[in-house]
Amino acid sequence: MSKEINILSFAKFKQLKQKIVALTAYDYSTAVILDKSNVDVILVGDSLGMVALGYPTTHSVTMEDMIHHTKAVTRGVKRAFVVADMPFMSYQSDFKTAIENAGRLIKEANAKAIKLEGVNQHNLTIIEHLTSIGIPVMGHLGFTPQSVNIFGGNLVQGKDVDKANKLITDAKALEQAGVFSIVLEMVPSQVAKIITNQLNIPTIGIGAGHNVDGQILVTDDLLGKFTDFKPKFVRYYSTLADIMQEAINNYANDVKTAKFPLANESFHLDEMDEMQLESLIGSKN
Ligand code: KIV
Repeated sequence: MSKEINILSFAKFKQLKQKIVALTAYDYSTAVILDKSNVDVILVGDSLGMVALGYPTTHSVTMEDMIHHTKAVTRGVKRAFVVADMPFMSYQSDFKTAIENAGRLIKEANAKAIKLEGVNQHNLTIIEHLTSIGIPVMGHLGFTPQSVNIFGGNLVQGKDVDKANKLITDAKALEQAGVFSIVLEMVPSQVAKIITNQLNIPTIGIGAGHNVDGQILVTDDLLGKFTDFKPKFVRYYSTLADIMQEAINNYANDVKTAKFPLANESFHLDEMDEMQLESLIGSKN
């Protein structure tokens, strides 16, 4: 197993042009597998809202949801760097609440860093303060799902010169404020390349092409387990939903036809005890 990833690893990844492998997790058993697979960054993303909790967007995810799932993930991780998402309205309303909520993800849930979406003066002030009190922050630009209602759908961002230029300026502002890395979601690959070349911190792309410092996907997408929708940038590395469906159908059939469990999958009394019990209870059994 490779050595533990810490905040200093990110500068090294960038310097050595070593691609960062990032994936999401929301539960213990998935986290254990990702950690054993040498994934560098495990994000407890607020995509948990859609993928694990069945909401249509990330908006309904609460701080309690994030704490609960981040705790489960960090219990399974020994080596990877765990980042927890700040859910919608946990940092947007006021500065004090934002700092307290970020602190909870570190203190109660054991995350190594937090991620928040977008750039504005409020966010930049939060990022500066969090880094000054020892909480690493990951930025997130491009399509930021918490702003889906402003974007008008799951749409690629930065598609004309002005918007692309604004993304570049925003990325620099985030770096200046102190983020250690930036997720670039659904931006044209040329724009992602410029941002990546202009920053000293690594970029991690999702739907941003290959000219970035790392890639992140939602694990349930990659595994073909969450199939409600398939964005263009997702590649299925498995057909887990089908595999699970088949296994569960087989189990159901075996139960219905009494093929499960077999004798060697059950517990048994000694023969003597069985006979004694039968004579005690009577012959009906
Ligand atoms: O919530 C999430 O899973 C994310 C990734 C898709 C980057 O933010």
